[in-house]
Amino acid sequence: MVHRPGALSGIGNTPVVKLSSFPGDGAADVWVKLEAANPTGSYKDRMALAMIEGAEARGELSPGQTVVEYTGGSTGTSLAFVCAIKGYPLRIVSSNAFAEEKLKSMIAFGADLEIIRSDTGIHPRLIPQMQERAAEIVEETGGFPTDQFNNLDTLDGYLGIGVELVTQLDGEIHGAVAYVGVGGAYTGLTRPIHDRWPDVVRTVVEPAESAVISGQPPGTHRIEGGGVGFVPQLITPDSHDRVEAVSTDEAFATARAVARTEGVWTGPSGGASIAAAVRLARDLGPGHQVVTVQPDSGLKYLSGDLYAESNT
Ligand SMILES: Cc1ncc(COP(=O)(O)O)c(C=O)c1O
Repeated sequence: MVHRPGALSGIGNTPVVKLSSFPGDGAADVWVKLEAANPTGSYKDRMALAMIEGAEARGELSPGQTVVEYTGGSTGTSLAFVCAIKGYPLRIVSSNAFAEEKLKSMIAFGADLEIIRSDTGIHPRLIPQMQERAAEIVEETGGFPTDQFNNLDTLDGYLGIGVELVTQLDGEIHGAVAYVGVGGAYTGLTRPIHDRWPDVVRTVVEPAESAVISGQPPGTHRIEGGGVGFVPQLITPDSHDRVEAVSTDEAFATARAVARTEGVWTGPSGGASIAAAVRLARDLGPGHQVVTVQPDSGLKYLSGDLYAESNT
């Protein structure tokens, strides 16, 4: 086992819990991997560490060199955490269009944050503007760009999710379900399980309002972290056996319900994954096991309306 310094050793080896009543009678067991147990509260810690360690291993990143990234906040927080421990200065380009909690979290870990102002939210030019500014900083500083959207090391980090699940559960896993953005976390969850049990039903989850993997047109939804409006490269016909489309309303309702009935506290994408996992569990029936993932904690969504109402 690789020994990592300080809090880096807190990444991975997250717990998995079985939902006790939410799936209902006549359903398979549903297990949820609690990725909020990672040090910054998100499975992005795994991919941030993999991006830095990959660059170190290839000699692309030297001690003390500045790391540069554009981010909406979760990846940036994980990267700031890893860079703080390893002693790399971090320059982040982000925007006030993203949650205040996420921007402050990056500063908490010592990142140097530059904001591209947007008064109209996340508009189509925003991410390209952030990417362009990050490229300028790389030029100016001789920094190392982690370039999360195009970095293949991210997959190495996420594979730990599936590898751990193969040994954490007793017996065969019959279903593996996850919400998809770039698809890295989904692939990290499903691939090791499929290698071990080829009959596992791998299920990708997408927003019903933007069900492009199901062949529908892209649209607007509020399930953060995915539903990017195109089929990501990692999602090929061989990568999955089933697609589940979950609406924003169902994802939110599921997140609220599992918080209140099971104490499993997640954001919208975790709600979508759990809703789809329960559908699969009902189809497979008792005597089977389905796994899914809580990407991060509900704590990251308190400023929005997911948990704002007291009685829905
Ligand atoms: C909260 C949340 N859920 C799900 C995802 C999807 O992960 P991936 O992009 O690896 O498919 C992300 C990634 O940004 C996320 O932040």
